[in-house]
Amino acid sequence: MRTLKVNLKENSYDIKIEKGILKSLGKEVKEVFNGEKIFIITDENVDKYYGTLAKNSLEEEGFKVEKLVLKPGEETKSFETMPKIYDRLLDFKLTRKDLIITLGGGVIGDIGGFSAASFLRSVPFIQVPTSLLAQVDSSVGGKVGVDLPRGKNLVGAFYQPKKVIIDPLVLETLEDRFFRDGMAEVIKYGFIRSKDLYLKLLKLDSKEKLMENIEDIIYECCDIKRTIVERDEKDLGERMVLNFGHTLGHAIEKYYGFNKYTHGEGVAIGMYNIAKLSEEKGLVSENYKDLIKEILIQNGLPFNVSIDEKEEIIEAISLDKKNMGSTLKVIIMKSLGNAEVYDTTIDFFR
Ligand SMILES: NC(=O)c1ccc[n+]([C@@H]2O[C@H](COP(=O)([O-])OP(=O)(O)OC[C@H]3O[C@@H](n4cnc5c(N)ncnc54)[C@H](O)[C@@H]3O)[C@@H](O)[C@H]2O)c1
Repeated sequence: MRTLKVNLKENSYDIKIEKGILKSLGKEVKEVFNGEKIFIITDENVDKYYGTLAKNSLEEEGFKVEKLVLKPGEETKSFETMPKIYDRLLDFKLTRKDLIITLGGGVIGDIGGFSAASFLRSVPFIQVPTSLLAQVDSSVGGKVGVDLPRGKNLVGAFYQPKKVIIDPLVLETLEDRFFRDGMAEVIKYGFIRSKDLYLKLLKLDSKEKLMENIEDIIYECCDIKRTIVERDEKDLGERMVLNFGHTLGHAIEKYYGFNKYTHGEGVAIGMYNIAKLSEEKGLVSENYKDLIKEILIQNGLPFNVSIDEKEEIIEAISLDKKNMGSTLKVIIMKSLGNAEVYDTTIDFFR
């Protein structure tokens, strides 16, 4: 078992990482919650494998448990889903002394966390992330929210969970394409904060080898995110480095109508192209774009795309909420394992 503590004064919490920990979910929850009712929010794919296990483990500890199973996919993370969740919470008569558990990937964590933040002006919640992306990234740091028809993550809150419980064994049932998506974020952590992590990942050249080391990998990623969030919880400065490759990645995803590239693939292409652009502009002390390319290929991720309509991509970047205001913030990897926020303008991409 590996444990990390996220130090955010009265909003501090533990992240527990252990293979098989899901079987003791009830006991883990009892350490931080002594109320009566628990409402689980999950999706169909995750419910199929782990819904009953989680519910039983909680009931064994004497909790009264209700479960809501949503459709899988980003479409569920929409503002329109919220009234359905609130209705079920009202039916169950959940109070502010009760608890919500999000059991799923980033979609469930984000929308379930936002339900917890907003229902009755906030109900405590625990994250039980089940995708690699959620285990290394979205479940830690308290960003919760939903999408609007005009864009992703436009409504939300900073609302920290009471605990994050990570069972790396559940990744066995995650589809390969989602595993690769998570790996794009894992690789990102190496680039932004840890050359050692990058070097370690380079040696793990198959999914089997990655899975053998997965507990340590998740721990290292969560530790990097924890450190950054502790210094900049509200995303006003350093936390933005977590977006390395993301602005360009999102724009590329959007340009291709969200069905050609997954989020992780967009990020992968974004990281490589930002590195290329910053090298061309002489902003970096080392030339490392080929190192980025090498590790992306090793993990089955793309690095380049041909873009004919460059202006459309630039338009998408300027509409991204992270770039609202006059300056554009781009994350530059100054050297391997060291990224910084760089203030520029949209002309950076021209
Ligand atoms: N809050 C944050 O800080 C933050 C950070 C990064 C990303 N995100 C958000 O996370 C979302 C993406 O997360 P995601 O990639 O986890 O997507 P997701 O939640 O859609 O999960 C991906 C797929 O894997 C399935 N799945 C999850 N765990 C499984 C398991 N153990 N076995 C079998 N299938 C499983 C899901 O049903 C889904 O089909 C996006 O909405 C993104 O905006 C949030």
